[in-house]
Amino acid sequence: MSTSISMPPDVAFLTGQFSGGNVIKKVTRCGDLSGVFHDLTAWQAIPADTPVYEVEMLDSPQGEGELYVGMTHLHPGLVGDEFYMTRGHFHQRREQGEVYFGIRGSGLLLLQNEQGEARLEQVSPGSVHIIPGNTAHRLINTGTEILSALAVWPTVAGHDYRSLAGGFALRVTGHEGKIQAKDVQNG
Ligand code: F6R
Ligand code: ZN
Repeated sequence: MSTSISMPPDVAFLTGQFSGGNVIKKVTRCGDLSGVFHDLTAWQAIPADTPVYEVEMLDSPQGEGELYVGMTHLHPGLVGDEFYMTRGHFHQRREQGEVYFGIRGSGLLLLQNEQGEARLEQVSPGSVHIIPGNTAHRLINTGTEILSALAVWPTVAGHDYRSLAGGFALRVTGHEGKIQAKDVQNG
């Protein structure tokens, strides 16, 4: 009896590009990120069709116990003094966690619990980030090249963007090469 060996999809660890598998791609542009950046005038000055991040996901079966694998490619840039970042979300099913792995570039993972307590983890190639349940998450590109991060999460998790419509408790800015994280209440 012989067993056939199939070729799974693969990911190039230098670039974060998937090959093989059924890849679904979504581009998020500056115009899609209404209310995300603090400086409205600076946000409006950037052409709405400017890509901020792309997410490539491998198509997965749906249902309890199934997992998605996705790669976020977050471009470098600033809106006013605030670095480009993802919208950020809680999972709709709050108890569901996620794992992120840094692939290329450098940035931060902003984590915030339901009590509004926020913290930051450094993202760099090879970094491993365990996002517990009940924790909102957002990637921030503080570098000069694309920040790519691989994510694995349950297909049942879903996304809740609305609970963060008022923003996260920390804002990360850059000025003359210096990265600063400020509590939003303290400006
Ligand atoms: C999935 C996940 C990532 C993000 C991606 C884009 O649960 O955390 O794949 O979806 O980084 O960020 P959002 O969804 O906040 O626009
Ligand atoms: Zn998530």
